[in-house]
Amino acid sequence: MINPNSELFKYLPKVIEQATNGIVVSDPNQEDNPVVYVNDITCKRFEYTKEEFLGRNCRFLQGEDRNQKNIKAIKDAIKNCISTTVTVKNYSKSGKLIYNQFTISPIFDENNNLKYFLGIQRDVTKEVTLEKQNFQLQKEKIEDAQYNAIGKLTGGISHEINTPLTIINGTMEFLKDSIQELEQSPLKQNIIQDLEDISIQLNKIKNLTESMREIADTKTFEIKKINIYRALIISLRLTHNKTKHITKVNLLNENFSLDIDREKYMYYVNGDARKLEQVFIAIIDNALDQLKMTGTIQNNKLDISLQVTKDNTTITFEDNGGGIDENLLEDIYKPFKSNKEHKGLGIGLSIAKKIIDQHNFIIDISNNQNGAIVKIEIPH
Ligand SMILES: Cc1cc2nc3c(=O)[nH]c(=O)nc-3n(C[C@H](O)[C@H](O)[C@H](O)COP(=O)(O)O)c2cc1C
Ligand SMILES: Nc1ncnc2c1ncn2[C@@H]1O[C@H](COP(=O)(O)OP(=O)(O)OP(=O)(O)O)[C@@H](O)[C@H]1O
Ligand SMILES: [Mg+2]
Repeated sequence: MINPNSELFKYLPKVIEQATNGIVVSDPNQEDNPVVYVNDITCKRFEYTKEEFLGRNCRFLQGEDRNQKNIKAIKDAIKNCISTTVTVKNYSKSGKLIYNQFTISPIFDENNNLKYFLGIQRDVTKEVTLEKQNFQLQKEKIEDAQYNAIGKLTGGISHEINTPLTIINGTMEFLKDSIQELEQSPLKQNIIQDLEDISIQLNKIKNLTESMREIADTKTFEIKKINIYRALIISLRLTHNKTKHITKVNLLNENFSLDIDREKYMYYVNGDARKLEQVFIAIIDNALDQLKMTGTIQNNKLDISLQVTKDNTTITFEDNGGGIDENLLEDIYKPFKSNKEHKGLGIGLSIAKKIIDQHNFIIDISNNQNGAIVKIEIPH
């Protein structure tokens, strides 16, 4: 106990007032446990005056952010009259986020009756932010290692894949020529169509192995002034054979068909056309997989739009396939995340994200009530 006659006792109010930790005292014997004392640093930190603090329960510092698991821990500690330390997200009057680590302790009188709660607060925003950054850095390192692993692996095997692929392609071309010499018949038409389908799938394999190699080797990246509308048309042409069985595609408010002129509109941006086509194909392909599962060609929809403002050009892909599994959404760009059990490798979007990052563009993937929305924002 501090001697009531001592110098220190006299100075105690000043010690508390000028402490560099936040100090709050609340009165649990009043309705809703209001603040009855608050020191200067707390007022300064949260940008409220003493008058604004006093008489209110401290929960107002949480603002709208009430769904925090630590809040329940404080509530329980108060109910059980025990001491506890937590970190919660609080907000200053102007809305600044503050990670507030505070300890609350019950204060009893000589008869062991609960008189007050003492709260000692510390601003740990810097520490938390640093920790989050470190965590992010670590995550990126792991992802980089995964990409490198993909790079090394495919660097080794892509050659092995490309050699037979070239032979298959050559044979296909030869077959296509030979078939032309046959007499016209429905069978001939079917074979031509089937060969066309095979070509497209082969092209996809080629694109995939190439793109995976390119990811490991970023030097092959070439930025030029390109017409992004043209890149969209090329992507839609390359996916047309799959698309035509699954959904209609609306491109800039117009039904997409193979005979649309690639230069019908000019939307110039700086980028690598082939890489961006690869991104568009990955997005379209995902929408198609989903639409195929959930709907019919009559009611399936894939809308692609382009908005230009003075700051940026935004391309939006919107489907009505029911949207992306919420559990996947958070990690959607990570390699090997897929819910397509027998089919997807789960690298489409991680490659897309890498390409978008290399361009300094922004990709945003979300759900609305009908399906998935993928936005690519290209700053001017
Ligand atoms: C002395 C004391 C200080 C407190 N300080 C804070 C604080 O700085 N920030 C905060 O978010 N909650 C603080 N709380 C917790 C809230 O006042 C409240 O108890 C908590 O939100 C749980 O209750 P509720 O679910 O009814 O809101 C403090 C509580 C006490 C008793
Ligand atoms: N438009 C969409 N609608 C619903 N789910 C989607 C959509 N786009 C992506 N997804 C989900 O995101 C996951 C990851 O997509 P991603 O393209 O990275 O991999 P994948 O399509 O499974 O495999 P890959 O592209 O390698 O063949 C998909 O498995 C799918 O569950
Ligand atoms: Mg995919």
